[in-house]
Amino acid sequence: MNLTEAKEYWKVRASELGYRYVGRVNHSAMEHFKFYDRKVDFIESKIPPHSRVLDFGCGVGMFSQLFNKYDYLGVDICEQGIMDAKELNFKHRFQHIESYDDIKGTYDLIFCMNVLQHIGYVPPIIEEWKRVCPGGYIMLMENHVEEHDHIFPRGVERYTELIGKNFNISEVESEEFEGNNLLMKFKV
Ligand SMILES: C[S@@+](CC[C@H](N)C(=O)[O-])C[C@H]1O[C@@H](n2cnc3c(N)ncnc32)[C@H](O)[C@@H]1O
Repeated sequence: MNLTEAKEYWKVRASELGYRYVGRVNHSAMEHFKFYDRKVDFIESKIPPHSRVLDFGCGVGMFSQLFNKYDYLGVDICEQGIMDAKELNFKHRFQHIESYDDIKGTYDLIFCMNVLQHIGYVPPIIEEWKRVCPGGYIMLMENHVEEHDHIFPRGVERYTELIGKNFNISEVESEEFEGNNLLMKFKV
C-alpha cells in the first residue's frame, strides 16, 4: 500500500467500524478494551526517559494515557481516527496529517504501535523520523507473525537494519507480547 492507498484503506475502515477501527476489531468491545489495558500494562514500565513524544499512527489515541505527564503529540493519516482521538482523549494533542511534512517540531521518543506492519515499504517513514527525532528512542510494537492480509511481519533484526540506515543505534531491546506482537526499543 502506498500512502494514497493507505489513506483510503484506513478511511473506509474507520467509517465502517467507528472508534474501534483499530485494535481487536472482530471481538467484543470488552475484549477490545481489555486487550489495550494489557498492552498498556506491558508497555508502561518499558517507556524510556524522554520529554517530547511523537505517537506516529496514533489511531484513536489509545496509548496517550501512557504519556499524561509528558509533552505528547499523536499524528495519523486517518482523519476520522484523529477526530475520535480528540473526543476520547481531550487532554492530549492530536493532528491529522496529509503528508509527513505536516509533522513539525522535534521529539526525543518516536512511539509507533502496530503501524509499520501494515506498510510494505517503510524507508520513507524512517527518513522522516530522522528529520523530527535527531536522537533519543524509537519504540515499536509490531506483529512479527504472518497472520492475515495487510500485514508485513518483520522481526527485530529487520527493524534494526531498517532503522540503522538512518540512525546510529546504540542499544536494542525486544520482548514478545502475547505471542504475535513484538515490542522493540532502539536507543538512537
Ligand atoms: C492498527 S492501527 C494502530 C493505531 C494505534 N497505534 C494503536 O495501536 O491503537 C494503524 C494506524 O496507522 C495509521 N497509518 C497507517 N499508515 C500510516 C502512515 N503511512 N502514516 C501514518 N499513519 C499511518 C492508520 O491510519 C491507523 O490509525
